[in-house]
Amino acid sequence: MRITLSSLQKMAQEGDRITMLTCYDASFAALLEEAGVDSLLVGDSLGMVLQGHESTLPVTLRDMVYHVACVARGAKRTFIIGDMPFGTFQLSPQEAFRNAADIMAAGAHMVKIEGGKPMLETIGFLTERGIPVCGHLGLTPQSVHQLGGYRVQGKGDTAAQRMLEEAKTLEQAGAGMIVLEAVPSLLAREITASIKVPTIGIGAGVDCSGQVLVLHDMLDIYPGKKAKFVKNYMRLAGSIQGAVEMYVKEVKARTYPGPEHSFSG
Ligand code: KIV
Repeated sequence: MRITLSSLQKMAQEGDRITMLTCYDASFAALLEEAGVDSLLVGDSLGMVLQGHESTLPVTLRDMVYHVACVARGAKRTFIIGDMPFGTFQLSPQEAFRNAADIMAAGAHMVKIEGGKPMLETIGFLTERGIPVCGHLGLTPQSVHQLGGYRVQGKGDTAAQRMLEEAKTLEQAGAGMIVLEAVPSLLAREITASIKVPTIGIGAGVDCSGQVLVLHDMLDIYPGKKAKFVKNYMRLAGSIQGAVEMYVKEVKARTYPGPEHSFSG
């Protein structure tokens, strides 16, 4: 039976950790599903790990539609989230709907949109029209030039309070899940406790409702610099299947991420 947004939300409410990995093709989709991953994120990180760009900014809607369709052909039970690439959702809710519809038609069950307050109207517009939306707060890679680099976000009382409020308003606007990237662990814990929808952490400590990693990072395939929160499961397990199974086990048991993969405020 297909894992749905409702089943993921129920898992979060019952304290069962959600496992998520990025995925961009059919073979990996089948392998990750077999290894017990709950949800696949067709992230625009594909711009860096597949296409070799320095950032996610050059990724197009066409790229995303192509890779979502590949993943959808390989995953029969897993919940699939497709990233909205840079420039396809910021101008107007109407344009965002048209582009999100293409990603959904390719096989996604939810789209992910980076950003806080400026995205509220768009999140409401999409969810009211049948497209589930995952929010993304903290380090939002599409804004890397505005943020001045890949840095931890939400440090200090003012920034932390702002992110907490944004998470609450994203939920009120209709977001069904929120990714928290590179956020101090205590702030991620407070956000998770303050909203009902699941939080998915990446560099956000162990207390989120679930965890996500970029597949090519945890398998040590990507040659670029690794963030502190990345754990090299390939070195530990020795095979791709073993690495993914170990990740699933550790996320469920809350032994990943450890303090060495987390940030303080
Ligand atoms: O594009 C991506 O892979 C992502 C994750 C890092 C959360 O947005």
